[in-house]
Parts: sequence; C-alpha cells; structure tokens
Amino acid sequence: MHHCGACRVEWFELESCLCVGIIMTDRYAVFGHPIGHSKSPRIHAAFAAQTGQAVTYTAIEAPLDGFAAALAAFRVEGGRGANVTVPFKEQAFRLATRLSGRAARAGAVNTLAFNGDDIYGDNTDGAGLVRDLTQNLGVALAGKRIVVLGAGGATRGVLGPLLAERPAAVFVANRTAAKAVALAAEFGCVGGGFAEIPLLPFDVVINATAASLAGELPPLAENVFAPGATAYDMMYGRETPFMAFARAHGAQVADGLGMLVEQAAEAFALWRGVHPETASLLASLRAELGA
Ligand code: ATR
Repeated sequence: MHHCGACRVEWFELESCLCVGIIMTDRYAVFGHPIGHSKSPRIHAAFAAQTGQAVTYTAIEAPLDGFAAALAAFRVEGGRGANVTVPFKEQAFRLATRLSGRAARAGAVNTLAFNGDDIYGDNTDGAGLVRDLTQNLGVALAGKRIVVLGAGGATRGVLGPLLAERPAAVFVANRTAAKAVALAAEFGCVGGGFAEIPLLPFDVVINATAASLAGELPPLAENVFAPGATAYDMMYGRETPFMAFARAHGAQVADGLGMLVEQAAEAFALWRGVHPETASLLASLRAELGA
C-alpha cells in the first residue's frame, strides 16, 4: 500500500494515484522524528497560497534508522525538496551531493533541493534567526555583544550567519565548557562554561540549549543583560524559565516562533525563487498559541 503525497489518498495496485496528472503540484516534505506536531506543513501551505505556487508539503516521520531510505523513496516518487529537522540534520548534510557555504560551515542541513541526481543541501536556520532579530524585532546586530548559550547543533547552525552581521563580540557558553571552547574556536570566536561568561553586559543573549525542554534555566549572572538587551529563546509555545528570568531582569524577550517562520521562508525562497511575506502568518500563529 502506498500513500499519495499530493492528494493523500491511499492506493494499492495502480501505477500511480489517479490524482497525478490532474493536480500538477511540486511535492515537498519535512522529515523528522517525531514530526507529528510540526508547523511546517501549515507554514508552507500559507506561503504557497500567498505566492500562488502549486506545491504540496507534507510531514514524514522517518524511522530513526531509516532517514536515507525514506528520503530516497520520496525522491523516487517525484519529491522536489525537503526540510529536515531533529534528529536528521547531520545525516542530511552527509547525503547532500552539493552544499551551500552556510550549510558547509554549520555541518548540518535543514533544506534539501532535488534536481535529477543532484541533492543540494542548505541551512536556513541561522538566516531565519538573523532575519527574525533584525527585521521582525528590529534588533541590529552589528557592533553588539552577543552571548549564545549552548554548543550543540542549534548553536552550530546559527553562529556563521550571526558572525556575518559583524557583532562586536560573540561568546559561546555551555554546560560542558570544552564543547563551547571547541565550537567557538571553529568559528573564530570565544567560548567557555557558563561561569566564564565575561562580566560584561550583553546586548543579545540567545538560548540555544535544550534546557528549556527540561524546564531548566542555564545558570546566568543577573547582570548579564545590558539595558534594553534582547533575550531570545529558540523554543516557542510557552514561557521558558530563561524567558521569565530575562523578563525579570529588564530584557526584551522573544521566543523562537519567528525563527521557525523565517527559516521556512528562506527554504521556500530557495525552492520557488520567491520570498514570501511572513508578518501576517507570524501574527496568526502567535494568536493561536496565545503567546
Ligand atoms: P541541539 O541540536 O538542539 O543543539 P544537542 O546537540 O543535544 O541539541 O545540544 C543540546 C545543548 O543543550 C547542549 O549545549 C547541552 O549542553 P551540554 O553540551 O553540556 O550537554 C545543552 N543543555 C541540555 N540540557 C541542558 C540544561 N539542563 N542546562 C544547560 N544546558 C543544557
């Protein structure tokens, strides 16, 4: 039994679903595990409607040991591109036959475009974060002091685009100090443990740790925030301990919903050659989340 990615009908012995040839759409999907709560199908459907592009976009939960096979099947069925999320971004990086500069630096891929045998890998996460900060939140990064909390894949994905904005300094802080030191060195900045965060006020503090998932707060000094500082949590959907702490210490607080929408817009632009407008979608998603 197969599942038609265009009309979602299940079919058995026909050569293809009967909808093919009637609905001439280009197919895209997001791959992850788990993927049930992904907002990406909703976001890309909104972009497609807004720009008049005939695309379908579904969510595919690949088995933990079956990402490459699931992706190959999707390509054989005519898939034109894919988004990739946890835990497959590093595998997607290895499966790409060609990489953008920012994907090569990130060591991870969240966007794939298929063209014959060519599998182009890009990473739009950092651009999404930078766009949310600079365009949606009005926070210029040039000349600013930034601290990024965490030294995992989320941080690796955004350091290059953050540094390209020419901040005065970026410090990478992590629970496991050695990981921050190594990652920061790779990108030509400085890193260490949370206790080693310089005793300077920072203009932008970005939480890229998984601490919020566990309802925990990275150990930060109360005076880490400069007056008018921005505290950005890559998580969205609820007030995290980091956001509450930042709010209590005078920072402007933002969650990661804008980054989610902006990284999707960057992927859509790569695939379709048109950059969708994001403000109205972001406003309606935010209203639904009640955030
Ligand atoms: P991701 O790809 O989302 O970045 P990851 O590679 O597993 O995920 O990294 C998770 C990050 O969150 C790491 O920096 C981790 O710190 P360690 O390197 O010390 O493990 C950080 N992290 C996870 N739980 C945390 C917590 N409770 N407090 C502080 N940092 C935490």
